[in-house]
Amino acid sequence: MSAPARSFRLLHLEDSEPDHALALAHLRRAGIRFEALRIETRSEFEAALDQHWDVVLSDYNLPGFTGVEALQLLRARTPGEGPPLPFILVSGQIGEDTAVEAMRNGASDYLLKNNLARLAPAVEHAIAAGETHRARLAADRELQVSRRRLSELAQHLQTSVEAERHAIAREIHDDVGGSLTALKFELDWIRRHADQPQVQQRALSALETVTSAIEASQRIMQNLRPAILEQGLVAALQWMTSRFEKRTAIACEFRTSHERAALPPGVPLVAYRTAQEALTNVSKHAQATRVVVDLSISGGVLSLEVSDDGRGLAADDLAKTRSFGIRGLHERASTVGGWVDLSSGAAGTSLILSVPLEDATTGGATDHNGEAAAVPDDPEADHWSTH
Ligand SMILES: Nc1ncnc2c1ncn2[C@@H]1O[C@H](COP(=O)(O)OP(=O)(O)OP(=O)(O)O)[C@@H](O)[C@H]1O
Ligand SMILES: [Mg+2]
Repeated sequence: MSAPARSFRLLHLEDSEPDHALALAHLRRAGIRFEALRIETRSEFEAALDQHWDVVLSDYNLPGFTGVEALQLLRARTPGEGPPLPFILVSGQIGEDTAVEAMRNGASDYLLKNNLARLAPAVEHAIAAGETHRARLAADRELQVSRRRLSELAQHLQTSVEAERHAIAREIHDDVGGSLTALKFELDWIRRHADQPQVQQRALSALETVTSAIEASQRIMQNLRPAILEQGLVAALQWMTSRFEKRTAIACEFRTSHERAALPPGVPLVAYRTAQEALTNVSKHAQATRVVVDLSISGGVLSLEVSDDGRGLAADDLAKTRSFGIRGLHERASTVGGWVDLSSGAAGTSLILSVPLEDATTGGATDHNGEAAAVPDDPEADHWSTH
């Protein structure tokens, strides 16, 4: 092994000066550069641990103290996942039991004083292992931070998409919808007051065009921001499932024991979008003949299950790089403190959204997603539903 370039700081728990000198000579001979401090007692050891060290060498028999106790003390100072400071037991005679105990307590290695040829490689190895461990911990920490950031970003995107949809729906409602409705009245007036049948005919066909434009804008608004949610989640899911059945010819049953559930802001929209994506998936992928949407609230947890009798999920379905529906549902659920589970088998696929209601956040996420308008006592609610 080549000699490391940097100088290590070595703490040596050793009551014999000649043994200390011998150990250092072995290290020097191997080309290891180091600064060393020899100490003997527990209090010296404890005081020394306030400084930075790269490796600890320790005799077993010390005045009023043992190497294994030193090791326990060291580990108590760096509990849990902290990178362990390499600790090598170097003793005159060390029984197998002691060696096993030391290794179990996290010693990096143990050596006999009459065989110090192994000291230099053991020190180098212990230090390298410590550094690898430290690097791995740092990488793990970075990974965790970047996972958290990614998840925060994904959640933010979910909520800002809803806010954006809400804003677009409002503009369509106020500008386009308002103008089209005014135009419809004007055209109707023209039709009624026109003397010439040709003009009447033209006005009538213009009225039909405007009427279908109004319907289209209502459809777009409904997709952008489900106004039906103002009548509550139960009503919205009833409407969604019956529309799904008509559109797809897949039998769709909606079950719930709740007439009208009082839910924290944000939760209805999350549940609605979850059902929407799950049903879209059923129509796109499942080849199902029947789907059941079940909404229940029990034990303070809302659960919404969409289960179909289709082909089920294949092993790699959820890893598709260009599929974002289910991934988005996980992020969406976590904006209100919930989660999504998927299960699949020969009998089809089942997707379950669970949201603990006491813990449902009413903070950031729901402030942004425009869902406030779905709260029953919101002054905007009427404005939206009367369009
Ligand atoms: N109900 C289901 N039955 C069978 N397979 C399904 C079902 N739901 C999802 N899948 C499979 O899981 C994959 C991932 O679904 P996901 O909703 O994440 O993405 P997607 O529907 O393919 O695309 P999008 O991003 O438009 O939602 C689908 O491509 C499909 O293969
Ligand atoms: Mg999908």
